Amino acid sequence: MSVKVLGLLGSPRRKGNNELLLDQALSGAQSEGAKVEKMVLNDLDITPCQACGQCLSTGECVIRDDMERIYPELKLAQHLILASPVFFLSLPAQAKLLIDRCQCLWAGRNALPHPERSTQRRGLLILTASGSDLRQFQPLLSTVRAFFATLGITYRGELLFGGLEERGEVLHHPGALERAFEAGAKLVKGEEIGPLLPQTPFYPIGWVRNSYREAPPEGWERTESELVIEPEVEPALDGLEDFSHLIVLFWMHSAKYEGQVKIHPQGRKEMPLVGLLASRSPHRPNPIGMTVVRLLERQGRVLRVRGLDAFDGTPIIDLKPYLSSDEIPDAKRPEWVRGLEKGGIG
Ligand SMILES: Cc1cc2nc3c(=O)[nH]c(=O)nc-3n(C[C@H](O)[C@H](O)[C@H](O)COP(=O)(O)O)c2cc1C
Repeated sequence: MSVKVLGLLGSPRRKGNNELLLDQALSGAQSEGAKVEKMVLNDLDITPCQACGQCLSTGECVIRDDMERIYPELKLAQHLILASPVFFLSLPAQAKLLIDRCQCLWAGRNALPHPERSTQRRGLLILTASGSDLRQFQPLLSTVRAFFATLGITYRGELLFGGLEERGEVLHHPGALERAFEAGAKLVKGEEIGPLLPQTPFYPIGWVRNSYREAPPEGWERTESELVIEPEVEPALDGLEDFSHLIVLFWMHSAKYEGQVKIHPQGRKEMPLVGLLASRSPHRPNPIGMTVVRLLERQGRVLRVRGLDAFDGTPIIDLKPYLSSDEIPDAKRPEWVRGLEKGGIG
């Protein structure tokens, strides 16, 4: 039996950026055999939650409107996609009405799929905004994550598109529709959808672009990457091109920390068991990467660098020039590190 993917359109604007992206994501899901349905929230009659509290004891909402037929859809759809514009750094009222009315599902959450099965239900968020500062997306993310969690849906990622003001402007945004299609397909296949904006006070100032999705067998030393810096940060790069080396701080978004505090570096049993923080393992509580790279070239807001051990799509947190005071020629290191240093001390 094919799985069902429900797409919620938060924008009141038909054939706008979000509808175009949502249609692509649903087509991607369909290409993987899913049955899809689109709900245009603006066309629905949804009364605002009255906080009457009755659902707290029954798990049922007493208001009679279109939500009566939406609740079963929300419960039964295998996967969910919410596509919405940013309105005043928040969700449009149409989307917020629906989310608030899910209070009864929160109240009756024991009736939702058992937590063990909930990882089978996956959610994708698509957001567009006219401004290009990624910070404006942050306030919505917590709301949407809470909404998905209430439905027992595992949040699998977001596609964020800034700089989209006019209706349909996304058609001229290189690769946007393709990314939405791919994300819809990945949602059904259960694959990683892409970088999650870190739920931390860090805001990416840019993104790593290269062809690496896994570590190259020959090591990172000679690999080249581009650091694509957000347009509003570009002037802050001025002067960096006078340095031969940079320190890149980045968020290792695909690292998986599972509470381990002792590890064998690089997972090699012949290495001594050491404290996690005495290693360079990416799987740490705050997966912050820090690497000194060679700056090859700056072209506007794109820096071409050599030797960065980060995958394509990695969020960049900060860049600093490498100074002579960063060099400590006689620094002490244990024996096992010296053996590993050629390939990085994971
Ligand atoms: C009422 C309203 C509030 C908005 N607030 C913001 C905002 O806070 N930040 C922003 O970058 N864009 C804001 N926008 C612009 C929309 O997010 C942007 O045009 C979006 O791409 C529209 O998507 P759509 O074509 O699917 O409707 C706002 C637009 C409207 C109509």
